[in-house]
Amino acid sequence: MQRPLNAGGFRDAARRALPKALFEYIDRGTEDENALRCLRNSLDSITLVPRVLTGHPQRELRTEILGETTAMPLVVAPTALAGLVSHNGEIKLARAAARMGIPVCISTQSITTIEEIRAGAPGASLWFQLYMWKDRNLSRALLERVEKAGVTTLVVTADTPTSPKREYNHRNGFSIPIKYSLRLGLDVALHPRWLCGVLLRYLLETGMPTYGHYPQEFRSAVTRLSIAEAVRLENLLNWDDIHQLRRWWKGKLVIKGVLGVHDAHLAKTAGADGIVVSAHGARNLDIAPAPIDVLSGIADAVGHDLDVLADSGVKRGSDVLKYIANGARSVMIGRLPLWGLATNGEAGAEDLLAMLRDEIDVTLTMLGLQQPSECHTALQRTRLTPQRSGTKSKFAEQGS
Ligand SMILES: Cc1cc2nc3c(=O)[nH]c(=O)nc-3n(C[C@H](O)[C@H](O)[C@H](O)COP(=O)(O)O)c2cc1C
Repeated sequence: MQRPLNAGGFRDAARRALPKALFEYIDRGTEDENALRCLRNSLDSITLVPRVLTGHPQRELRTEILGETTAMPLVVAPTALAGLVSHNGEIKLARAAARMGIPVCISTQSITTIEEIRAGAPGASLWFQLYMWKDRNLSRALLERVEKAGVTTLVVTADTPTSPKREYNHRNGFSIPIKYSLRLGLDVALHPRWLCGVLLRYLLETGMPTYGHYPQEFRSAVTRLSIAEAVRLENLLNWDDIHQLRRWWKGKLVIKGVLGVHDAHLAKTAGADGIVVSAHGARNLDIAPAPIDVLSGIADAVGHDLDVLADSGVKRGSDVLKYIANGARSVMIGRLPLWGLATNGEAGAEDLLAMLRDEIDVTLTMLGLQQPSECHTALQRTRLTPQRSGTKSKFAEQGS
């Protein structure tokens, strides 16, 4: 099959390959999708000024992040249910990331367990994302498994104190438990490649997919509701929990979902090694700022003490460089690897990552720079689009 030319092409191919309910679960935002539009507008409004005649023969994309050297400044973000996009999707993502020399962060809500992913992708740099359960002892036991699987970096998601209001999921019947309806049945039937290659294959080989990390006694198929209080996501998570996690977890600790300077300082005080300045892909809070708009203030405040990552809205290699220009050391990508996976499994995910690497390289060359970390020198400190009246410069500190 012909490789799509850009992320938009991969997304189009994924739209064709996946049932609409699954495609929209990945693609869309929350409520009125204002935050989603804001992400794109903010990224599009940033320009970088090239240096000319610098004559660098070669770029150096290697990056140090949380004590690791990665081949480029990218990390595959944690995405729940990635294993529904392709059979054993989480293992395929881990293999593709390993071949491209970047880490992959596995979600607490993956279908495949961290042990299975380690066995399927022995050379991968695996990070793990934690959604804390109500029963802390169960979460602690999970962390012991995660550590045994050779995970070095734990990413604690801090921006999901409740379930977001994603109305399209309700309309499509895509919720946990999945609601059977004629509409959903037709949607699945109209995507026979996914039906046979993913769903039926799971049903024949291992049964209806479950959240793999949930303890056996609480595990239920994604079509049924797990009502057990013990494994409900902790909605009361607070900074004391992070201090406690710091005592439990000896590896690198990262707080994901920080959007304000004050919280970045609290993360540092709690002993975190890094933060992800993230709006959860504009999937949670529809009035959240675009991370790119608050990033430089946060990076200026804590960037000397913490490794600052950022995510949300990346479609191009140039978006990655815009995040780095504003102070991120590395960038997480959520939807894009899933589009690659949906398009052509493991090879598709790898193609997508290779395409992004090439785009980063071309953009860096055009900028006359050698390394992504030099991009801050190219930052154009005015916006292309006019400021809304009453708003401060995006470089002013926000939210704290
Ligand atoms: C389908 C999907 C599932 C996600 N699941 C999780 C999750 O389980 N834990 C988490 O911390 N973030 C989750 N995220 C958010 C991503 O980790 C990341 O912050 C976001 O996707 C970045 O934006 P982007 O998709 O525009 O790159 C999910 C995102 C998507 C698209």
